[in-house]
Formats: sequence, structure tokens, C-alpha cells
Amino acid sequence: MQTAYRIVVESNGVVIWDSGRVESERTSGIVYKGPNLCSRRRYEWKVKVWDNQGRESDWSNPAFWEMGLLKPEDWEAHWIEPIQKPASEEKMVSVLDVVSGNVATKTLQEQEADLRPPQLIRRAFRVVRSVRKARLYITSRGVYRAEINGMKVGQAEFSPDFTPYDKYLKYQTYDVTACIKPGVNAIGIVLADGWYIGRIHFAGHSCHYGNKLALLLQLEIEYEDGSTEVISTDTSFRCHTGPWLYADLFIGEKYDARLEIQGWSSPDFDDSEWFKCVYSEDGPACIRAQYGPVVRAMERLSPIQIYVSSDGSQIVDFGQVIAGRIRLRLNVPEGTEIRIEHSEAVDTDGQFIRNIVGRNKEQTDIYITSGRGDEVYEPAFTYHGFRYVRITGCPTRIQLDDVEAVVLYSDMKLTGSFRCSDERLNRLHSNIQWTQKSNMVSIPTDCPTRERAGWTGDVQVFAPTATFNMHVFAFLRRWLLMVRLEQLPDGRVPNHVPAGRYLEFESGPLGISSAGWGDAIIIVPWVLYQRYGDISILEENYEAMGRWLSYVRSQAEQESDGHRRYLWNHGFHFGDWMIPSLVMENNNGLGPIASAEATGELVATCFYAYSCKLMSEIADIIGRPGDAVFYRQLYSHIRQAFEKEYVDDSGRLSAHFQGTYVLALYMDMVSSNLRGRMVEQLVRLIECNGWRLDTGFLATPFLMDVLCDAGRPDIAYRLLWQERCPSWLYEINCGATTVWESWDAVSPNGDVKLVSQNHVAFGCIGDWMYRRLGGLKPLMPGFKEFIVEPDVMCGLDFVGICHDTPYGIIKLEWRRSMEIVNLSLRVPANTHAIVRVSAKVLHIDVQQYVLEHRVHSGVHEVLLGSGDYHIVVELDDRVTLESAT
Ligand code: BGC
Repeated sequence: MQTAYRIVVESNGVVIWDSGRVESERTSGIVYKGPNLCSRRRYEWKVKVWDNQGRESDWSNPAFWEMGLLKPEDWEAHWIEPIQKPASEEKMVSVLDVVSGNVATKTLQEQEADLRPPQLIRRAFRVVRSVRKARLYITSRGVYRAEINGMKVGQAEFSPDFTPYDKYLKYQTYDVTACIKPGVNAIGIVLADGWYIGRIHFAGHSCHYGNKLALLLQLEIEYEDGSTEVISTDTSFRCHTGPWLYADLFIGEKYDARLEIQGWSSPDFDDSEWFKCVYSEDGPACIRAQYGPVVRAMERLSPIQIYVSSDGSQIVDFGQVIAGRIRLRLNVPEGTEIRIEHSEAVDTDGQFIRNIVGRNKEQTDIYITSGRGDEVYEPAFTYHGFRYVRITGCPTRIQLDDVEAVVLYSDMKLTGSFRCSDERLNRLHSNIQWTQKSNMVSIPTDCPTRERAGWTGDVQVFAPTATFNMHVFAFLRRWLLMVRLEQLPDGRVPNHVPAGRYLEFESGPLGISSAGWGDAIIIVPWVLYQRYGDISILEENYEAMGRWLSYVRSQAEQESDGHRRYLWNHGFHFGDWMIPSLVMENNNGLGPIASAEATGELVATCFYAYSCKLMSEIADIIGRPGDAVFYRQLYSHIRQAFEKEYVDDSGRLSAHFQGTYVLALYMDMVSSNLRGRMVEQLVRLIECNGWRLDTGFLATPFLMDVLCDAGRPDIAYRLLWQERCPSWLYEINCGATTVWESWDAVSPNGDVKLVSQNHVAFGCIGDWMYRRLGGLKPLMPGFKEFIVEPDVMCGLDFVGICHDTPYGIIKLEWRRSMEIVNLSLRVPANTHAIVRVSAKVLHIDVQQYVLEHRVHSGVHEVLLGSGDYHIVVELDDRVTLESAT
């Protein structure tokens, strides 16, 4: 265990800050407290620790960070625009119009006239002295790709990412020292529409933030002699269109390789025929340094098969639904037009079909060959959600090694693994991780095909699972900043963030802020705090949380009399969205809305209470005792009002659905005497549904816990092992490789529904699998202390999980054979684990846990069986044996 630390920060060999020896167990979230930091400067830091064995560590190897441009005066550059025709604005349509089929969709050919070409922008510059250091600071309205002397700068895709451009725009910093050479150099940038202009979201309308591309960059060169030079955007930059005829993030891109301009970003290129860029408006001063991960090509997949379909096109099957694009090698004559269409599904005959349709959902790239031979095409400014690709127009047979899928997601470390003795659950875990990868492209999204929107509800329900699987702290922290920036003055949190023109529907029938969605502003920081232990996530969102709850209160209090003023019974709410039975009954696309109508009010009041409850705990943690009392009281009023209004004596809820019981039980909405009856109601509903779940987005995350905590793990396992639709294993048995938006996305006879096959929400069971089957439960924030309590009676023979926490890797593996359970456990330094084993496992007839043992860091083997156990502790190469009964 750590007892103290010391951190030293230096710059140019001078100590800037020395924390001195601080008696503390903290190993993360320690805030720098030295003097103000300077723009552009590099700081090195190192750390040492003391432990409870009286040892002092060596200094760590120094690590460093470099400051960005902190002050507006640091920017000499001006925003410039290439010469361009402003993008045409697509008419805004509401979601309801789309769902009811009132929106005409154009063919790709009809659309092409409206789509715009990306722009190439360049400038040459001379370097006369030898360079010590060079930095490129750059951002754009639209997405960009930069090159210096013909070489791509960095590995990021789609920078500066999806963001509310009018409120928060990130610039990226690249170390380009190695790209610059003595003599003439050139910088070239390609700009494309991206999220700024492109056709995004459900309804696929364009120009959410503007209709013209613009660029801001500053290339700073520091010479060996200490002098500096700055090349920054002004009207000396020149522009031209290139091989891209258009590029839209959703629709796809069209690239004519015959129009490639050789050497366009090289020094000796003659740009005298190119146009001069013009100055653009400065726009709001909301530029900040990149925070959080960039999107990158993270993995590559080879096809599992390529076959020719009956129409002569070639179908490439990658065996896995992903978000990304393909990279294709071609050897065909000049001017051949190759059409590349993407989909998550094929029909039972293997024919290409689209499971996502609608305005601007083409997911089609077109490549016209140069005929140079061995040409390789990978789109640059678009991505798609797919497993299958249909390639038409290619006169040759595409071979397996001619094509690969490039998997794109925000660059985050995988921090979780799950393996068990049932391959179906292993596949489920893998599907959940793939769904997460595909939906963490720049922002957390609902699906990589139809919407790619930061639906707050989806983020909220999936956040616990997300934290187990990947290091999402910075990614979600950045998204929460956007949520705060998008929050309306009255406290409403838009249903998806970034919101863009969605806010124009503010006064529409669906409103823009729903219960269970807006609550993400409280729930997501809470989850991040629990899982990463960094209190700043609560502090920085606290005010926004309070504003959200004031808005909810104002809604509830529209009714002034009696208990009703504690019910959130106004406005539209998505409710327990996507209740399977309602979705399957209403085949007209209005099933989800039926869930909203049936459960909206009850669910809203549950979330009102739950958020108040969490808020009171958060207020305690960050030292606001008055607020804590206030929210606790409010919670208790809401709870009483809920019981009075919606529950009868038999424990039956007025909205009688599995999900409403789950939420009411999990959120502790009724007095204890009613709980048992409500559990019975829930169990009866599950039984009447053939032991199948019928919960939507909001209730599913709590379903299994509610059953287990109510002493009915038997039913939780019936749901887990259920193979008829709706169930997780039904999807697995249908061959799913990601998690579906709706359980019946593919029917037993193979029919494919027009819904997403890559939606995070029902993947929320991942969290429960780690906690219940693996048995890893955080007890103190950041896993400083955790419980190890695997359910070894769950029907599996073995489960092994790993989780990389802020303190290091926890490894936990249990195996059962006959009456013996063998548990091996790795507890990171500076943490404790509490191993709990239920009486049942030890075959002792008592209700209580008979074994609860606190173990310290090290590797432990625990043998359980017939009432005896012993723990082998291996620590620092010493082995101690402890036994007990
Ligand atoms: C999205 C969901 C989202 C929902 C809002 C859907 O179209 O795909 O995941 O949360 O709308 O109800």
C-alpha cells in the first residue's frame, strides 16, 4: 500500500513545482498546483512513492506534456475559405415525418448535384536554417487531412471531430519537426464537409453548423539558433478541387482517380493556376486544444468470403459488423466505375439488402479508376456501418487479399476481457465490445448507420459496460463538456448531443428533452466517478446537474396541488423505449412510440426520483451538505407521490410492464411492504411472456440486478439462457456479431427488419456479466477497494475476467470441478479486495455469507469446497499460507 508520494515538474531543467512528500494513498486525479503554465512550453514530470513496508521507490522515468496555445493572442492565423459554392441546405424534417414516410428520398444520382467536392489547399514556404522543432496547430470547419511535403501528418481521421462547432472547436497539435527539410517545403490540406456541413442524423439534413468550409492553421518553426518563424493561414494559400467529386460522411464519397493531382502538396508543384483563398469570418472564440482521443484506423479485417451474387455483383463478407470503410486494390482499365455499397445484412440467399434506408443513408462509395494498375482506394472522408460490401462494375474477380476492412474508432485502450466456459456468452461479450467500438467514433453514438447521434439515453444506459471494456474517461468527459454547452438556459438537456439543428424542434410534439435521456448529465458523471475515482468529473458537472433538476422540478410543479407536484407528468418522454412486445406488435415503425405512450409518465417520475437520489449522494461527496439534504427530501416526496399515484395494494403498477417494475424496484420507489408484491408482479409478467424479457432501453440495465437482489437469480438465469426471441442468445444463435437495436432485427426464418444491427443499448448486460458472472464489483471509487463475489452457481464451469483499473490490472478467474471451486485473483498494488463466497457454495445451510475475507495486493489462489478454504498469498516473491474454516 502506498503511504505517500512526491511529484516534481521541471521545465528546461528548472523545477517548476515540487509537491514535497504528501502522505496519501492517492495515485490518480492529483492536480498540479504550481505556477501558471506557459503556452508551447514542454514540462517534464516524475513521481516517487513510499509504501507501508517502509520502502521508498526510485524516481519514475520522466514523462512530459507540452502546452498548447493558451491565449487568443497566440493565434496569428486567420480563418480562410477555399473558393466554393455554398452547400445547399436540405429541408428540415421532423423525426415523426420520417417515421410516417412523409419524406421523399432522392436517388443517389439525383443527390449528386447537391453534393460538393472536398477542397485542396496549399502553400509553399522556405526554410533557411536548421530546424530544432516544428509544430502544426490546425483546425477547420469541416474535417481535414493535412500533408507536409507529400506526407500525411498524424494518424487522426475526421479531425476536428464531431462537436458543437459554434460552442467548442478543438484544434490539434502535431509535432512535424521530422517533416520539414532545408529549402522549399509545402503544406497541403484537404477539407471536406464532415459533420459541419454534411447530411447527418436521423433525418439526414445538412448544414447543421454552416455551409462553407474553412481552415485555420499555424505552423511554428523554431530554429537551432533560437529564432522562430510562423506560417499561418492567410490569402497566400491557394485552393483547387481534386479527385473527390464529393464526400459526405453518411452518403459516401465519389473519387475519380483520373483527377488526382500528382505532387499537389509537394514543394515543387506549380500552383499558379490555383485560386487564392479568401478570408472567412472569425466565428465564435471557442477554440480549445484537443482533449480526449482522436479517431484512427484501429484494426484491419480480412474478408471471410467473397462471392458473386445473382446480379453479377461481388459480395464481400467481413464476418463482422463494424464501423469503418474498405481498402481495395484494383487492376482494371482506366475509367472503370466501381460502386461500393455497404450493409449490415444480406438475405437468406446471400443477396445484398439494405437494413437501413431513408434520406441520405446510401452508404455508397464510388471509385473511378486511373488505370495505372495496382491502384489502392480507401475513402478518406466518410465511414459506414457494415459487414457486407457489394461491389459492382469491377470486371475482374476480387481476391481475398485485394480487400480489407479498416475499422475506425476513437483511439481508446481496451480495458476489459471476459472468457467463460460457454462460447455463446463469449460471443455475446465480443458482440458488445464490437458494438462499443463502432459507436465510439468521435462521440458516443447510438448506431454507426442511421443516425450516429449522441443520444444521451443510450450513453447513459451503456456507460457502466463501456467503462469495463475501454478506457472511456476522457472520451465521455469531453462529451459531457458538450452536453453542458448544449444545455438550454432553462436547464433542458437535448436528447442528443451535439444537437445541431435538432433544437429547431424545441416546440414540436416530441420536444427535445426526455426523462432518462437528459438524466445522462447526472448518471454518466456518477458512473465515471465510481469507475475511475476522479472526483473532478462530479465537480465540473455539478452545476449542470442542478440546472437539469431545476428544470425537471419546474415541469413537475406545473401541477401545484398535493402529491401531484412531485410527479413528472408533463411533456413527451421516450419511456422504456423499444419494449420488445410493443415493437414487435407494431410493425409500422411506430412500435417505439408505443413504448413511450405506455410508460412515459411512470418512467419520467422514476428518473426524477433516481436523479435526486444520486444528486444527494454527489452533493455529499463534493461537500454540499445543504444540497444533499434538499435532494434527499425531494426524493422521498417523489417516492411517496409515486406510490400514491401509480401503485395499488397488490403491488400492481398502473403501467403494467416488466420495465416499469424493474425501474420502480431498482430506484426504490415504493415502501418495503410493497416490494415483495411488486417482485411477484414482475416475475408473473416474465413467466407469462414465456420466461422472456420485455424491457426497453431504460429498464434492461437493471433487470438482472433487480431479480438477483430480490432473491430470484433463478429467473435472471432463465433470461440469460433463454434462446427464443427476445433474448441475448437468440441474437447469438442467429449469428449476430454486434448487438441489435431491436431483438427481432432478424426473424427466425432469416427475414431482416429495417432496424440497426449495431446499437449499444441492449449491450448493457455486459456490465452485469463482469460483475455477477466474473464477480468483480467496485466498492470504493476507481476500484480502490472491490468485492470479488462470482456467482459460481450460475451454470458455468469457468469465468475469467480482466479489468485494467486506474490502479492496475485486476485479474479474476474461477473454475468449478465437482464440489471444488478454484479462484485465482490478482489484486493491484494499493488496493484491497473483499472476497465473498455464499454459503451455498460451501454447502452450509445458512442464509448469510460465511466467507468474507479482505485480501491485499498480490496474487491469490482461493480453494473452496465442503466448508474449508484456504488462501495462498503470493506477494513480492514471498509465499504465505493462511488457512481458516
Ligand atoms: C435512436 C435511439 C435513441 C432514440 C430516442 C432512436 O432513433 O436510434 O437509440 O435513443 O431514437 O428515442
